Amino acid sequence: MMPLVPTVLIVANWKMNTTPGDAAQLARAIADATDEPLVKRVICPPYVSLATVGQALAGTAVDVGGQDVHAEVSGAYTGGTSAEMLVGLASWCIVGHSERRRDQAESDELIGRKLLRCREAGLVPILCVGERLAEREQGRAEETVRNQLEGSLGVAASGAGGLDPRLVVAYEPVWAIGTGRTARGVDAAAMADAIRDSCAGLGLTDPAGMSVLYGGSVTSSSIGEFLAEPGIDGALVGGASLKVEEMAAIVARAALTGQARSEAART
Ligand code: PGA
Repeated sequence: MMPLVPTVLIVANWKMNTTPGDAAQLARAIADATDEPLVKRVICPPYVSLATVGQALAGTAVDVGGQDVHAEVSGAYTGGTSAEMLVGLASWCIVGHSERRRDQAESDELIGRKLLRCREAGLVPILCVGERLAEREQGRAEETVRNQLEGSLGVAASGAGGLDPRLVVAYEPVWAIGTGRTARGVDAAAMADAIRDSCAGLGLTDPAGMSVLYGGSVTSSSIGEFLAEPGIDGALVGGASLKVEEMAAIVARAALTGQARSEAART
């Protein structure tokens, strides 16, 4: 019997790539090439492609996610997209990506309010955290990530119902994003432990049950090192997620982990 909850999560972050037409074709090709029941797949295209991608994925088990959401519910915020507007188009949403922290100067407090909006709208949040190279070199990687979690989840926990039990945290060292460099699996696993510990301290009732992803230059060659770590539940994939063959190989590798973990859970 297949478990009800897939054990591995692979999230594609397409960033500012693809037109709506291209996105629909790519999404369908990826869905067809990655049909593995033990791997949950989520594609996060640009906002303008959410509808075409959703249509292209109809009848598949691939979910759609947003790449960001506005911290307010509605109002005079030109160019903004609220969580409520994503309902029906997406069921997941990336929040706090390091490119937005860098380019839009997003603070942890703002990211916390975005998490609140996701919770109100029923979107599963994928919260990104990660240190810069200097912080890692100074031995402050864990402290940085714990501060990011406290600053954002502290705000999110103040809302009705507290922290969203479906919370997904993606550990993405900033120096690994789009650079071809990756963290070592053991370092990512140590950070996953710290993330669960921080989330427990912030009131998450089942930290063992939360998903922690690794992200940063994940490819079909590097995914295995991360999934070999029991504390890592999947990956947030940027550049490689725009290539069908790469996604097929990444999800195939994830399916092996899914199989091994579901067998271990049964024994
Ligand atoms: P990358 O991006 O895989 O291209 O490094 C990952 C991300 O930014 O989510």
